[in-house]
Amino acid sequence: MQVEALPSAVRDVVQSHRCGGKRIGLVPTMGALHVGHVSLMDAARRDCDFVVATIFVNPLQFGPNEDFDRYPCSLEHDLQKCEAAGVDLVFTPETSQMYAADAESEVRLTGLTRKLEGRHRPGHFDGVTTVVAKLFNIAVPDLAYFGQKDYQQQLIIRQMVSDLDWGLEIVTCPIVREDDGLAMSSRNRYLSPADRERSLILFRALSRAQELAQTASETPDSIAQQLQQLISGTDGVDPDYAVVVDCETLEPLPQRPERAVALIAARVGKTRLIDNQILRFR
Ligand code: PAF
Repeated sequence: MQVEALPSAVRDVVQSHRCGGKRIGLVPTMGALHVGHVSLMDAARRDCDFVVATIFVNPLQFGPNEDFDRYPCSLEHDLQKCEAAGVDLVFTPETSQMYAADAESEVRLTGLTRKLEGRHRPGHFDGVTTVVAKLFNIAVPDLAYFGQKDYQQQLIIRQMVSDLDWGLEIVTCPIVREDDGLAMSSRNRYLSPADRERSLILFRALSRAQELAQTASETPDSIAQQLQQLISGTDGVDPDYAVVVDCETLEPLPQRPERAVALIAARVGKTRLIDNQILRFR
C-alpha cells in the first residue's frame, strides 16, 4: 500500500492506473477509522481495480465551536486498517496542501445544504462539498463511496456530481451498527459510559418509527412527533431535530408515502450524534 501526502503524487499514480484500464474507487474519510469506514473500503475493493482512501480532517467543515481541535486522530492505526482492507493508495495531505493560503474558490450548493444539518451547522456542507470536489479532482475516481449514516451529506454530494457533470458514480453504503444498535461513528468515542447507554435511544426511536410506519393511521408527521417525544423524554438527550421527510428532497410529506427517511440529530451529553432510517409504509 502506497501513502502519499501530495495531491500531484496522487494524481500521477491514479492516472497511470487509469491508463492501464483500471476502475478507480475513492473512499474519502477524516480518519479515526471504524468498521463503518472499512465497509466502504470493502465495497470499493469489490467494485474497483484500484482503491484510494483519503484521510484528512477538513477544517472547512467544522464550525467555530465544534470539535475540530479534539477530533480523534490515529494515523498509524488508520493506515493499518486501510492496509488490512486492501486499499492501494492512501492520501494523507496536510491542510496547507489542500488549501493554499491565497485560495478563493469554494463549492456551495444552495438548496439541500440549507436544511436540517445545514441549519444547525451553518457552513458545514460548504466545507464538505469544497473538500469532496477537490478530492474528486485529485483522484478522478470512477466510483466514490459514502455512508448512509451521513444521509444528507450523500444526497448533497449526489446533487453536486449531477450539477457539475462529474462522470462518476456515488455509492451509498448501509449504516454499520454496534451489536446494540448504536450507529458507528468516530465521535462515539467521546461518549461517557452513561452517555453511551443514553445514546441507544436514537436507534430505539428509529426502530419504533419503522413499526409505526406499518400502522395505517400513522403519517410522517405523527411519527416524527413520536420520535421527538421519545428522544426528548430521555434524560441527558437533547434533540436538534427528529423528522420524517422525503428521501430525495428532505421536504415534509403530507400523506403516507411508500417510503420516507427518518432523520435524527441529538446532543447526548456534550456529543452530537446523527442517525437515520429509511421507513417503508406498506
Ligand atoms: O463523511 C466524512 O467523513 C467527511 O464529511 C468527508 C466526506 C470525508 C469530507 O471531509
